[in-house]
Parts: sequence; C-alpha cells; structure tokens
Amino acid sequence: MQRLALSPDSFRALAHDLTDFAANYLEKLPQLPSYPPDVSGRETEKLFGGDLSAEGIGAAAFDSLPSVFEHSRPASPRFFGYVFGSGEPVGALGEFAASVLHQNVAAWRSAPAAITIERTVIRWLASAVGCAGFSGSLTLGGSSANLMGLCMAREAKAPANQSGVRGGVIYCSTEAHMSIPKAAALLGLGHDAVRLIAVDEAFRIRTEDLRHSIAQDLQNGKLPIAVVASAGTTATGSIDPLNTIADICREFGLWLHVDGAYGALASLAIPDAFSGMSRADSLSLDPHKWLYQPTGCGCLLYRDASAAQRAFAHSGEYARALSDDPIEGFAFFEESMELSRPFRALKLWLSLRYYGLRAFQESIREDLRLAQVLAETIDAEPRLERLAPVALSAVCFRYVDGDGDMDALNRSILNRVVRRGHVYISNAMIHNKFALRACVVNHRSTEDDVRSVVSEVLASAGEMG
Ligand SMILES: Cc1ncc(COP(=O)(O)O)c(C=O)c1O
Repeated sequence: MQRLALSPDSFRALAHDLTDFAANYLEKLPQLPSYPPDVSGRETEKLFGGDLSAEGIGAAAFDSLPSVFEHSRPASPRFFGYVFGSGEPVGALGEFAASVLHQNVAAWRSAPAAITIERTVIRWLASAVGCAGFSGSLTLGGSSANLMGLCMAREAKAPANQSGVRGGVIYCSTEAHMSIPKAAALLGLGHDAVRLIAVDEAFRIRTEDLRHSIAQDLQNGKLPIAVVASAGTTATGSIDPLNTIADICREFGLWLHVDGAYGALASLAIPDAFSGMSRADSLSLDPHKWLYQPTGCGCLLYRDASAAQRAFAHSGEYARALSDDPIEGFAFFEESMELSRPFRALKLWLSLRYYGLRAFQESIREDLRLAQVLAETIDAEPRLERLAPVALSAVCFRYVDGDGDMDALNRSILNRVVRRGHVYISNAMIHNKFALRACVVNHRSTEDDVRSVVSEVLASAGEMG
C-alpha cells in the first residue's frame, strides 16, 4: 500500500459508505437496545485489543466499524444515565467537516473563519443564558471549564502564576460536582482548601453556613478566593440561590464561579429559575449536555477577558500574534489553557443555525416536562419512593417494597435494568441512600420512554423475586 496516500475517489467511496452506514444506524436507533446485549470486557478485549500490524489493510480497516457500533451503548431515546446529552446528528456532520478542514483554532492568523465562528457562537451562548457581553471559549467539557474558571479566580484573588501557590480557600456545597475538588487539587490548593457547605432540604447550599464559613476562615487568617455556586447539581439538579451567593461574594470580595455544566442551558426554557446567574465572574455550561452536541463541547464564559488573560497569557515568541487589529490579532491561547484547539464551534454553529434557537428551547422544555411526568408516575406507584424534588430533569427514587438491605436491593435492580437493555438509568446517593436516577437530557425521548423507566424497574424487581 502506498504511504499515507488516499485518492479523492477512495475518500469519496469510503465517506459514501460511512454516510450510508451512519444514516442506517440513526434510522434504527430508536429500536436498538439501550445497552449492548451480553457485552463483556473479555469480548471487547478480544475484538479490539489486538496488536497493530506493520502493514496496512486499506478499506478493510472500516469493516470493523459495525462491530464497534454493536459493542457501544447507543444514544437511545431511553438513555437517562448521568448527565449526558443525546448527540444531535447535524452536530456530527459538523465534526466531520471540522476534521476535514483541520484547523488549529489557536489564533485568527491560523484559523480566520474558525476563530470568528467560535467567537460568534460564544456571543450567542452568552446572550442565550442571559449573560450578554461575556467573553469565553469552548472547552473539552464542564470539568475543564470549571478548572479554567477556578484558575482565573485564583489568579485574580491569590496570584500564583509567578511565584507559586500561597493558599486560598474555595467554597461550594456538599452537592457540588467532583470536578471542583479535582480543580482545587490541580491548581495546587488541595482538597483541604475546599469547604463543603451543607445543603437545605432542596439540596441548595445553606447561605448562612456559607457566610459563617467564610467569616471563620478570615478570622483564622485563611484566604478565601471563590464560591462555586451550582446551577444544577449533578445528583438532583438543584439550583443554589445565585443572587444571595452573588451578594455574599460582593460583601467579601470573592470570585463567583457558577457551575452550570448541567443546568445553565435550561435557562433557555426557564430563565427565572436562574436569576442571579449573570452576576457570575465565570460560568461553565456544556453544549454536549443540554444542546445535545457530540461529546467534547463544553464552554467557559467570563465577565472580564483581562482576567482570563492574567490567568492564561503566556505567549512564546513562536505563537505571538502579529497584528494589533482586535479581530486579526485575537488568540484564544491568551485566554485559555489550550494552545492547539479543535474547531469545536463548527458543529454548534451548524446545529444552532440548522434548527434555530427556538427548537432547542422547546426540546429542553420538553425534557423538563418529561422529568415531571416521570416524577408523577413514580409518585403514583406505591412500590417506589421519590427521594428528591425535581428542580430540572433528574429524578431520584428507589424501590421500597420489601425489607432487608434496600441499598443492596436497589443496586441489584439497577444492574438488572441496565442489562435488560430497554432503558438506561444510573444512580446517586441521596441522604445516604442508594438511589436510582433518571436524567432527561435527550432530544429523542417521548412520554412512553420515560414511563418505561418505572415499568422496567418494577419488572426487574419482579424478576428478582
Ligand atoms: C454539575 C456538573 N459539573 C461539571 C460536570 C463535568 O462535565 P464534563 O463531564 O463535561 O466534564 C458535570 C457532569 O455531569 C456536572 O453535572
């Protein structure tokens, strides 16, 4: 085989076959099981764990794709696990186009159209969530957006880039996402620098406890840096009292980072629930969750671009922008931890323009409604108990018909539900109880799909005697 050469005709033929395959797959997606039947680690190792041969096999390399798809969890209308979007196909075509174009979206001079498109999409997102005028960039996901937001906070309140870390405390609720303590560790502050503040009965941070904890740290000579407010906690979707937290941050001179990776985009449908979000200094949101984009599309928005530059600008001579023009001299690497950057914005730009913002608003509103339908179906079933209010689209509940170790029973039910392959749900700990958890962030789901969560849980419990 010729060295790394692909003729236009070969590319066309491969792409044509792949497009047909993908279209057929998407057509049968609603009927596919929500989890691949009988998949095992031994089998995936056998199929995909082989050694690389020195000689290429040409188009036959693609023959394994059906097997890859068969051994993957489909983006089913009955997928309700974690907080994971459903993968919208116009976005998938955008990923394909972006790969063919192969841009490095580091600076305008290396990617003129792509830079402008990403900045445009950022402007659209900021305005859609009520933060018009914020700058920002697309990221790998919510975890990296949270890390970058907290890096900006640290550099603004306890500068460390030059001489290293000299302490600093971050505040968030016990319900905050694991990426917050992870960011504290990566930033050299350490897990101990994260104060986990208690929550109320609706899983929102107790603001009096927050104020008390900050005051106590100040008294003890510590250096409070930032409060991370959740706009949609992972387990229950609860939204912290953003206005009160913003007041506290102003009172103590702290950075306000809002982790809206799960929930912030729901402000397209229910803006009033997110009042105060626009007072954030930085805000994470995840188009790969609630704008249904292919995985690898998070976003960090921030009020003050110069704060991002203080945290991230560190240009080597080889990368320095060679223009003073505000457009042509723009470089994302001056405001981001990334240098080489993929053209993430293309999928979002295509998808948003293809459907229009209203279609996304309506789809998010429908997800919120379906979560309420599920909650009502659970409440009407005496063998199930709901464990938390439904603030957004996450519904936590458990099977309660029986005695003995209910955590173990529900864990077994969850395994069985997943293996039955009709719906996919995941779990959470609520008040120290093992909860079954369904989270609707899925543009394909219907009422029947969410109701089948209940029938599948009951059927699984029934099978276990
Ligand atoms: C509240 C919250 N923050 C952050 C994240 C992390 O996002 P990602 O998985 O995109 O890194 C998640 C993921 O579910 C989340 O729910």
